[in-house]
Amino acid sequence: MKIAVRYYTKTGNTKRLAEAIADAVGAEALPISEPITEPVDVLFLGNSYYAFTIDPEVRAFIRGLDKNKVGKIVNFGSAAMLNSTYKKVKAEADKAGILMDTREFHCKGEFKGIHKGKPDASDMKAAADFAKSVVS
Ligand SMILES: Cc1cc2nc3c(=O)[nH]c(=O)nc-3n(C[C@H](O)[C@H](O)[C@H](O)COP(=O)(O)O)c2cc1C
Repeated sequence: MKIAVRYYTKTGNTKRLAEAIADAVGAEALPISEPITEPVDVLFLGNSYYAFTIDPEVRAFIRGLDKNKVGKIVNFGSAAMLNSTYKKVKAEADKAGILMDTREFHCKGEFKGIHKGKPDASDMKAAADFAKSVVS
């Protein structure tokens, strides 16, 4: 199974989750500035909420994906208050004609002193276990 991991981060939280996931599945965690050039079965896509929505760069990345090169997207990320970005990511994936796995990983993420230290070691382990279960 070919697996890619891409993330978008502003303060480093999604990058840390991406690295835990990538380690667990034997892939490399790369920012979304790195395009998907080879076909993959699974694309783990890390992203977050900023001012109640996903970043325009994440939207542009998903819209720019080649549906013939991406089997499915698996969403992961963190946020301070809101729950997952799943619906917003799926809306873009639908436009791009790419399948979205119904499973995802979401946890709290530190923001301005709220949820200090999150994602923490237990979140990293949960993210890694989640990723392994998706690809097993
Ligand atoms: C500019 C900015 C805006 C944010 N807006 C929201 C928001 O509207 N809702 C929310 O739940 N979290 C919000 N957050 C918190 C982030 O989603 C949270 O800190 C997340 O872990 C950040 O991931 P990152 O470090 O990978 O960027 C915001 C964070 C930043 C930096």
